[in-house]
Amino acid sequence: MTELEPEPRNSLPLSTRPAAPMSAPRDTMWEQIGGRETFEKLVREFYVGVATDEVLLPMYPEQPDLEGAIQRLTGFLEQYWGGPTTYSEERGHPRLRLRHQPFKVNPDARDRWLHHMRAALTTLELPPLHDAEMWDYLDRAAHAMVNTFED
Ligand code: HEM
Repeated sequence: MTELEPEPRNSLPLSTRPAAPMSAPRDTMWEQIGGRETFEKLVREFYVGVATDEVLLPMYPEQPDLEGAIQRLTGFLEQYWGGPTTYSEERGHPRLRLRHQPFKVNPDARDRWLHHMRAALTTLELPPLHDAEMWDYLDRAAHAMVNTFED
């Protein structure tokens, strides 16, 4: 064995556990950060902010009742991060850009959405890497949802 070959060729694999399927619950972000309870807290905190927002709140068709919207966003995020697939069983394929077409999602609306989501995510006090991964996704998703640059 040389310096360049630090591991013996016949060394054991790094893990001797049997390979788990990719969807094994313990491997998902959904499971790692606390499952339903955590996602519902995130979304409820987010909607506390939305309820105070003079631009976002009027967009919600059922407002001031936000319970349906809370359930839909919670279910979607749970599904995206590897939790139960209830969202698609009830609503079908997410097609989020299409579903947002009726709403004027301009940069101002996006930044407001992100502002309330950032505040909500902070209340979860996730480990920094989990926080960063969630935020990266939410930030990109919100930028992708913009459908107009009109005021
Ligand atoms: C960027 C600014 C955004 C605005 C202004 C916005 C606004 C809205 C509004 C007004 C609704 C209808 C509420 C309802 O369900 O009754 C809605 C639905 C929804 N939004 Fe957003 N949204 C934004 C970004 C996002 C992002 C980034 C995601 C995902 C990460 C998302 C996920 C959803 C979902 C899952 C629904 C329910 C879709 C359905 O099943 O009907 N939204 N949004």
